[in-house]
Amino acid sequence: MAKVDVLLGLQWGDEGKGKVVDVLTPRYDIVSRFQGGPNAGHTLEFNGEKYVLRSIPSGIFQGGKVNIIGNGVVLDPLLFMKEAMELAQSGHDLTQRLFISKKAHMILPTHRLLDKANEAAKGKAKIGTTGKGIGPTYTDKVSRNGLRVGDILDNFEQKYAAAKQRHIEMINSLNDLAIQKGGEAVSFDGLDELEKEWLQGVEYLKKFQFIDSEHVINKHLKEGKSVLCEGAQGTLLDVDFGSYPFVTSSNTVCAGACTGLGIAPNKIGDVFGIFKAYCTRVGAGPFPTELFDETGKKIRDIGHEYGAVTGRERRCGWIDLVALRYTIMLNGVTQLIMMKSDVLDTFPTIKACVAYKINGEETRDFPFSIEEGIEPVYVELPGWNCDLTQCKSEADFPQAFKDYIAFLEKELETPITICSVGPDRDQTIERR
Ligand code: GDP
Ligand code: IMO
Ligand code: MG
Repeated sequence: MAKVDVLLGLQWGDEGKGKVVDVLTPRYDIVSRFQGGPNAGHTLEFNGEKYVLRSIPSGIFQGGKVNIIGNGVVLDPLLFMKEAMELAQSGHDLTQRLFISKKAHMILPTHRLLDKANEAAKGKAKIGTTGKGIGPTYTDKVSRNGLRVGDILDNFEQKYAAAKQRHIEMINSLNDLAIQKGGEAVSFDGLDELEKEWLQGVEYLKKFQFIDSEHVINKHLKEGKSVLCEGAQGTLLDVDFGSYPFVTSSNTVCAGACTGLGIAPNKIGDVFGIFKAYCTRVGAGPFPTELFDETGKKIRDIGHEYGAVTGRERRCGWIDLVALRYTIMLNGVTQLIMMKSDVLDTFPTIKACVAYKINGEETRDFPFSIEEGIEPVYVELPGWNCDLTQCKSEADFPQAFKDYIAFLEKELETPITICSVGPDRDQTIERR
């Protein structure tokens, strides 16, 4: 039976997952998303065009592959409609090749308000979410109050009205809490208009086939077809293993592909772990190697490190090998993919954090909390001082860059099989 490969982020998201899924898609029959929702922003560039995908898998641009939105995903019908319509306008009609799990939970307009109200009620401790309703939707799923895509086909209006009413009561009590803390209440202004558009999104969704994705995927596997699973967010945002509570609300680790698609663990083949040659983070939460100086600003400027979803500045810092060893372990990564090395082209020296110093003691293990008192221990390596974006094969790599790769492979005990040297599909170099 064919195996399922998983591609996922090893840092705090935005590693370049969308780009590489697009590059690898020709080798697979099916591409599927297994968790997250429109908090994701996956950017692809080819033939001078740029696309940002939120809920739709990044396999849609490479021929007539089957693309699946799995049960582990949370779907906002309105944002989905906007995304799919934009693609249709640019000549990519997906209705015949994009399939949606009946078990995927839906993000309601009031989930977005709840997201805002939760944040406001947290005061200074807010997470800095994307505001897309992700946390409240997963909360409803786990508390057994959610609405699923399959519910659209059965007594939907009644189910929707009950969920909305419940949410309004919750928002009112969160608003009281926010006001007590000196914050602002979330307003219901505009909810009617948003709801109207959202219901249009629900209608639009019906153009697509709703499937029992666990059956469909396993049937394909039995027929010898291959599947690539596309992770969203990154392992350091995983709800169990990330920098809790500054995380997202799903399991972003490899195991999430099993629960988010109905794939048994013994079907997983390769796990592609993707990371940037440095590190970024959007939103609040600890970040041991964060740079607050000119170097951090230089990385942000050259790397265009601004959020694809919210436009927020991404916080930037040096690569953190303590965190990467941890995330490689959690996911069982078999191959590493390094992105955005070209961003470091003009840096005379490059730092890599190889250990943490906590209370004067050095550790290579990722601790329970990275919130306070961590001093990164750096190794400084010479920069390559040349333009990697023009490299066409590994043979074109300068020696200092080859040395950087060899250093990382030794530290991480995993081969780096792909290096990305620019945002374009063609700027992708396979090593072996
Ligand atoms: P994702 O969420 O993991 O899919 O990543 P994002 O799309 O949010 O962020 C990655 C950004 O880096 C996008 O703007 C990409 O176009 C860009 N990008 C991807 N790979 C490279 C690379 O190798 N070099 C450069 N300079 N940019 C890249
Ligand atoms: P992709 O798939 C980077 C961050 C948010 C916030 C935290 C919780 O493009 O890599 P949420 O809205 O999920 O409740 O926010 O997680 N976050 C991301 N950061 N890339 C993402 O997705 C992210 N999705 C969520 O900024 O700190
Ligand atoms: Mg992104």
